[in-house]
Amino acid sequence: MTSKTVLITGATSGIGAHTARLLLDRGHRVAVTGRDETKLKTFLDEAGRPDRLLGMIADAADWEATESVVTRTVEHFGALDAAVANAGFMTGDSIGAGEPTSWAPMVLTNVLGPALLAHAALPHLEATGGRLVLIGSVAGLKNSPGNLYSATKWATTGLAENLRLHATTRGIGVTLVNPGMIDTPFWEGAGAPPFALPPQPIAEAVCHALDQPAGVDINTLTIRPIGQPV
Ligand SMILES: NC(=O)c1ccc[n+]([C@@H]2O[C@H](COP(=O)([O-])OP(=O)(O)OC[C@H]3O[C@@H](n4cnc5c(N)ncnc54)[C@H](OP(=O)(O)O)[C@@H]3O)[C@@H](O)[C@H]2O)c1
Repeated sequence: MTSKTVLITGATSGIGAHTARLLLDRGHRVAVTGRDETKLKTFLDEAGRPDRLLGMIADAADWEATESVVTRTVEHFGALDAAVANAGFMTGDSIGAGEPTSWAPMVLTNVLGPALLAHAALPHLEATGGRLVLIGSVAGLKNSPGNLYSATKWATTGLAENLRLHATTRGIGVTLVNPGMIDTPFWEGAGAPPFALPPQPIAEAVCHALDQPAGVDINTLTIRPIGQPV
């Protein structure tokens, strides 16, 4: 892959952080976001490569913050080749027996966030013939009882296809990457299942999507651990 500039939302831990580190190892320029300053600082200190890494505090559910990180990435590195809508989380409760006051930030981050990123990034991706990557989930392909997180990821599945229809006529690729169960802080409290994969295969899948030759659009990649029952 020729050297690219890639913006990843929510990349201070887990899948986003591993993807950022893999891209840096391969010589790319990477911009990352997160909400927590301490987590962002720890990530930046551990990753090194300050000449090719830009970190920004931003809430992916907020329009002004999202517009600002896209603008700052382009100003800092000169262009944008790919944007990865990765920021997301699961409240872990269910609609039948949950805490409704915690649902709005999850829905806004997981559903509105990728749309805001697309709106801000598409003009820059059109300029480079770039790619938008959405991190969905197997939970966006399969239902489970009363699972609002799953519904947010079904929304991501739909958004990826309607963005593909919009973007392909503008020379932009769109890829939906659906992780199965991955051992990251996402599972904090509940504990990741024993068969969960490390984040590395998902980072490799994102790199594979970004590595497609001109004119090739790779649209959906689903990566489950062997043993995942859903
Ligand atoms: N782990 C799995 O089994 C699994 C499976 C399928 C899909 N996924 C998806 O993969 C993506 C990454 O999850 P992960 O497993 O890597 O979890 P993670 O380790 O908890 O990482 C989530 C990252 O997103 C950031 N974040 C959360 N909300 C944000 C917001 N509103 N604005 C900006 N940053 C935000 C977090 O940092 P701050 O908290 O500091 O903001 C963190 O850097 C998510 O979309 C998740 O739904 C995960």
